[in-house]
Amino acid sequence: MLKGLVYWLPLLCYTVLARPNVSPTSFVLVGDSTTANGTVLDSGGWGDGFCGGFLPIELVNSSLAPDTPCINTAENGATTGSFVADGFWNISLAAMQGEVAKGRRTLVTVQFGHNDMKIAPPESMGANLTVMVQQIRAVGAEPVLVTSLTRRNFNADGTIDDALGPWANETILISQASLPYRLQQNTHLLDLHAASITYVEEIGPDAAHRLNRSPDDNTHLNINGTIVFGRPVPSCIVKSLQFILP
Ligand SMILES: *[C@@H]1O[C@H](CO)[C@@H](O)[C@H](O)[C@H]1NC(C)=O
Ligand SMILES: *[C@@H]1O[C@H](CO)[C@@H](O)[C@H](O)[C@H]1NC(C)=O
Ligand SMILES: *[C@@H]1O[C@H](CO)[C@@H](O)[C@H](O)[C@H]1NC(C)=O
Ligand SMILES: *[C@@H]1O[C@H](CO)[C@@H](O)[C@H](O)[C@H]1NC(C)=O
Ligand SMILES: *[C@@H]1O[C@H](CO)[C@@H](O)[C@H](O)[C@H]1NC(C)=O
Ligand SMILES: *[C@@H]1O[C@H](CO)[C@@H](O)[C@H](O)[C@H]1NC(C)=O
Repeated sequence: MLKGLVYWLPLLCYTVLARPNVSPTSFVLVGDSTTANGTVLDSGGWGDGFCGGFLPIELVNSSLAPDTPCINTAENGATTGSFVADGFWNISLAAMQGEVAKGRRTLVTVQFGHNDMKIAPPESMGANLTVMVQQIRAVGAEPVLVTSLTRRNFNADGTIDDALGPWANETILISQASLPYRLQQNTHLLDLHAASITYVEEIGPDAAHRLNRSPDDNTHLNINGTIVFGRPVPSCIVKSLQFILP
């Protein structure tokens, strides 16, 4: 597992835009169950490993500096639409406002797709992400768009069956520099989708499925999964954005 983690780090690190440091920093996480706090079955995402410090085991240590606020507002089953309609987005916005009010640079990771893909074409999610990005900026926080963590469904040839690809691409599109006739918002991007595909194809189906929350659940992560996918994220952001964390 540790070998995998070391291997994993460089994959993710190069995807974040370089930016001058600002300190101190807080994080707010927005997304579905693949980001959420894994407290029940059919939940369990990378947010636990990202924020660290609260699981019933001491195993999951964040790579964030101690006392860095990290508020995981992701919700099981959410689409970009339901997250707003069910009131979770208002909770996220309040968390952002709280951190901004303390004078902290507030980075907001936004990752959707797993449930959006069940109900609408990618452009619907893209339009909703656009509104989220604008509202994050309106409260003085900074969006980091994150492409969907891959499902660990393999084809017979060992490649990933990539049903999420169009939703990952839509997220990338929204993160890009704007043109007058497009939706692009020019945000930070973490291409977790591409990096996680590269990683699980490298370790293969048996090792990849040992990261499952339950044996047949190729979507949600157990503790080792949240360590592998979550822990590198803050260190890569920190490294790439050259933060001086408190
Ligand atoms: C997690 O990884 C550790 C170290 O490799 C291993 O001992 C443990 O059995 C793994 N846990 C699960 C649930 O696979
Ligand atoms: C987490 O931190 C604790 C206490 O510092 C340490 O004992 C443990 O080995 C760490 N776990 C990992 C996975 O780094
Ligand atoms: C995760 O859930 C637990 C239990 O509900 C809670 O105590 C903890 O604060 C949550 N962690 C984050 C990072 O939101
Ligand atoms: C995007 O939000 C709209 C409401 O503004 C909703 O009707 C639509 O279903 C949402 N799309 C997705 C993929 O959640
Ligand atoms: C979220 O907050 C806005 C502004 O206060 C309000 O108009 C909207 O109804 C709230 N949404 C939900 C689902 O409660
Ligand atoms: C996503 O975009 C990449 C690069 O443009 C392209 O190669 C790939 O075919 C696209 N994937 C899907 C599923 O649209």
